[in-house]
Amino acid sequence: MHCAEVCKSHRRSCPIQPHLLLTLLCILAVPSLELVTNLMGRPGEGYYIEVKIGSPPQTFNVLVDTGSTNFAIAAAPDPNVENFFNSSNSNTYVSHHKKVSVLYTQGFWGGELGSDVLNFPPLFTPLVRCDIAAIKTSHNFYMNGSHWQGILGLAYPVIAQPDRNVVSWLEALQHLKNNQSVAFALELCGSEGDGSKHTGVFEILGNGNEGAELWTSPIVREWFYELLLLGISIGNKTVDLSCRKFNTDKTILDSGTTSLMLPTEVFNVVVKLLNSSITQQSVPISDDFLMLQKMFCWKDPLDWTHFPNISLSLAHSDTSYFVLQLPPQSYIKRVSNNSEVLGLQNCYKLCIKSSKTGTVLGVVVMEGFRIVFNRSSKTVGFAKSPCGPAVDVFGPFKTKRDMKRCVNPTPLPNISALTVAAYVIAALTSMYGVLVGYILCHWLWETYIKQKMTRSMSETSIVSSN
Ligand SMILES: *[C@@H]1O[C@H](CO)[C@@H](O)[C@H](O)[C@H]1NC(C)=O
Ligand SMILES: *[C@@H]1O[C@H](CO)[C@@H](O)[C@H](O)[C@H]1NC(C)=O
Ligand SMILES: *[C@@H]1O[C@H](CO)[C@@H](O)[C@H](O)[C@H]1NC(C)=O
Ligand SMILES: *[C@@H]1O[C@H](CO)[C@@H](O)[C@H](O)[C@H]1NC(C)=O
Ligand SMILES: *[C@@H]1O[C@H](CO)[C@@H](O)[C@H](O)[C@H]1NC(C)=O
Ligand SMILES: *[C@@H]1O[C@H](CO)[C@@H](O)[C@H](O)[C@H]1NC(C)=O
Ligand SMILES: *[C@@H]1O[C@H](CO)[C@@H](O)[C@H](O)[C@H]1NC(C)=O
Ligand SMILES: *[C@@H]1O[C@H](CO)[C@@H](O)[C@H](O)[C@H]1NC(C)=O
Repeated sequence: MHCAEVCKSHRRSCPIQPHLLLTLLCILAVPSLELVTNLMGRPGEGYYIEVKIGSPPQTFNVLVDTGSTNFAIAAAPDPNVENFFNSSNSNTYVSHHKKVSVLYTQGFWGGELGSDVLNFPPLFTPLVRCDIAAIKTSHNFYMNGSHWQGILGLAYPVIAQPDRNVVSWLEALQHLKNNQSVAFALELCGSEGDGSKHTGVFEILGNGNEGAELWTSPIVREWFYELLLLGISIGNKTVDLSCRKFNTDKTILDSGTTSLMLPTEVFNVVVKLLNSSITQQSVPISDDFLMLQKMFCWKDPLDWTHFPNISLSLAHSDTSYFVLQLPPQSYIKRVSNNSEVLGLQNCYKLCIKSSKTGTVLGVVVMEGFRIVFNRSSKTVGFAKSPCGPAVDVFGPFKTKRDMKRCVNPTPLPNISALTVAAYVIAALTSMYGVLVGYILCHWLWETYIKQKMTRSMSETSIVSSN
């Protein structure tokens, strides 16, 4: 069945599907699926794509980020990046003699605004000239070992830095196509096996309509990809709050954020419902796992059936909505065990966090879907992708509720360097935390817990990991 699905959404590689040839086609379809895989990375460190900058081209990897608009690249040595763009070696680099910086919730980068030619070999798009920020200084921006050295912002000009006149890569591509809006698709596949890396697909789409059937949600405002979240359910229990609270101050779809971030009041209700649903199943779990994203370890791999599905309802039209259903494999992530010392432990983290800046539908929500960002129809469309966690999408459902009540009425903030407070990825693992946590919890384990628990359990919450 998996093969049949592959054929369905990757029709181009499966032009004919006679019954007898299905097996053969599937054999053909699988390598072609691997061919289009052009996003790489490690869980918690974002998805990156290869880019060639300047002439002669210098090759880098950049994070694919729907939560910002600038193209920015390391342009000075830094202990956390393996190489950097040297603009004096590019004949096509033009400096705008302008400073640019972006402040994130936990870090920032600053540098010089210029322009150069860019080419993304895996995308088969033409070479285009766009503005690039050459990063000279940064704090808490790069991630050591992540293999990316910059960021490709795919959002709207309104949130570009230092101002909206910056020509982003998507804009430049659009100018080349007679100013027709560009549509693109992301399929984030998550990780398989030991969870040490993940893959995905990034595609620039032609004018033709999508083959796969999509559930579309209107883009409420064109700055971030802002959507309207109408409801949240944990298993069969709904979060009983006014829907405006879900979208205060906004709900955005952001491939540059790992977790599902929820406004604090919403987060507290979600945690309560998760807790009651899990304790009903008598799984031992700590408040720190739920509230503070501390790692939790079991001797046996997690039994996913003890954890509920989470459903998110998104607006479809003025009178209807559809539902994204996430299995626990989406929102609970295995912490990579690439350390010998972890031994036989299976450690997990909850990827739902509280937020002071509204809802962020991050990577954990996007994985498993094919998501089409259609800037000309001002919609974001969702379909099940052949890869990733076993998510689902249902709909449309009619509603008589007045959806306008769910929109946060505050106008678009005045975008300045400070208010953008864009989003950074939150690393899933901190090796330091893992090590300290393990040694301590191993001791606890041997001393106390082993005798008391039928199910093996330990946790790192006793030390402050990261
Ligand atoms: C980055 O990681 C490498 C290899 O893991 C390590 O040798 C190096 O010291 C790290 N650099 C920093 C600044 O942490
Ligand atoms: C950039 O390249 C030039 C010429 O190869 C070299 O002189 C310069 O030191 C390089 N800049 C940095 C920051 O490494
Ligand atoms: C596209 O838009 C830009 C800026 O708005 C304008 O300068 C350019 O002439 C337009 N190109 C075409 C082909 O219409
Ligand atoms: C990590 O976990 C996988 C799956 O349980 C196992 O096959 C692999 O040997 C583990 N790796 C290490 C270094 O412990
Ligand atoms: C984007 O939306 C427009 C207008 O609805 C449609 O014509 C176009 O085919 C869509 N593009 C894709 C790639 O689906
Ligand atoms: C909701 O789910 C719980 C646990 O999964 C179950 O015990 C309960 O019967 C369900 N309630 C309804 C109304 O389906
Ligand atoms: C989870 O439920 C347990 C038992 O009902 C309770 O003691 C604990 O405080 C709850 N934790 C949270 C975060 O609600
Ligand atoms: C979650 O959804 C899947 C697919 O719809 C379903 O098979 C599974 O039983 C659900 N899990 C729970 C705990 O309800």
